[in-house]
Amino acid sequence: MNLSVQPQTTPLLGEALGPGDKSISHRSLLFGAMAEGETTVSGFLAGEDCHATLNAVTALGVTVIQGETPETLTIRSPGYAAFAEPADLLDCGTPGRTRRLLLGLLAARPFVATLTGDATLRRRPMARVGKPLQQMGAQILGRAGGTLAPLTIQGGDLQPIHYVLPVASAQIKSALMLAALQTPGESTITEPLPSRNHTEIMLPAFGGHYTQDGLTIRISGPQHLHGTHVEVPADISSAAFPLIAALSVPGSDVTLLRVGVNPTRIGLLTTLREMGADLTWETPDTVGEPMADIRIRYRPLKGVAVPPERIPLMIDELPILAVLATQAEGETVITGAEELRVKESDRISRLVELLRLFGADITERPDGWTVTGKTPLHGASVTCWGDHRLAMSAAVAGLIATGQTVIQDADAIQTSFPGFAECLEGLGATVHWS
Ligand code: S3P
Repeated sequence: MNLSVQPQTTPLLGEALGPGDKSISHRSLLFGAMAEGETTVSGFLAGEDCHATLNAVTALGVTVIQGETPETLTIRSPGYAAFAEPADLLDCGTPGRTRRLLLGLLAARPFVATLTGDATLRRRPMARVGKPLQQMGAQILGRAGGTLAPLTIQGGDLQPIHYVLPVASAQIKSALMLAALQTPGESTITEPLPSRNHTEIMLPAFGGHYTQDGLTIRISGPQHLHGTHVEVPADISSAAFPLIAALSVPGSDVTLLRVGVNPTRIGLLTTLREMGADLTWETPDTVGEPMADIRIRYRPLKGVAVPPERIPLMIDELPILAVLATQAEGETVITGAEELRVKESDRISRLVELLRLFGADITERPDGWTVTGKTPLHGASVTCWGDHRLAMSAAVAGLIATGQTVIQDADAIQTSFPGFAECLEGLGATVHWS
């Protein structure tokens, strides 16, 4: 389906509750599956992405029951030691995350499983997670020397690992933690820079334990996990779209509700404040993941150079920040973001190509880009290569452009933000599916 966006001539006003956090929703399913007993989840992201993980854990013999709304789930599991060998291929859909995390979960199980996915996923290399798991003793076979899906894993009998990640990646750290939890002995996992810590926060809630010394996590197995309740906050990576729309449209005053403000996820908010944005939130004391209502009021902004060590704390928000940078005075420079080249698309080249169609002044760098503002944008008819974050970035660009914007084949938005158009419309925008 196509998404059409009209230029926004009035301020965006009101409150919005975005979809549940994708990273935390995936982890609630994986931990709920590994834990013995019953786990309940509220605020779950009922997007296509999470359904791939849901179907995969079901294939392992776990029962997942949808509650009264799509955002609530009950998971019943015999615990990871009793997982069944899946009778068929595990279809991981588009997200690299389902496959990476599942590889970690399956690496210690004494059976064979084959993971595949759609064409986008089958192009994405998995060596970075496969290699350390092979080092632990898992056997992984697949195309291109065991790096491209379909991937078959024969797990079991792992040795602990002492691993230093070559790049900061929460997915790889988490996959290794899931394997280490099931492996006799102590494993250590060291990151070069901090990345999102949702796995670390969730593990103790399920009765598990680890210790942390700077950037090194120590985790001993095997551990017994038990079911619990998980409350998923709204995803800051999705909230980023209405948030930046409000910062781009003069006169706007928008509050985004129950947004996850875990310190390892708020690199975007720090950057926006440096650009001069008027953002306020109070973080209530919470056990587990902190969440807050964020109020955003329009104000003219200036460009900024984002320090490379902050990139892992805002990796998924970089494309939408580039849209805002076109409306900020001066240069906004992104470096140290080469990781973006292996996301749902090559988010560096594709973003540069996309924003130029709107008339943006953007220059590609090997590890990021430079946007020079302030530049008036004009509406465009664009494709987004099946990448949900690029599709939503184009929609926000359309709001601040003159003339109509059409995003062709924008269905990928459903993977992370079902209700995206309705959310913007609720704030006063004109956005339609056709
Ligand atoms: C994720 C971590 C990030 C992010 C991805 C989800 C996670 O990737 O881009 O959308 O759930 O752990 P990295 O592995 O590059 O940190």
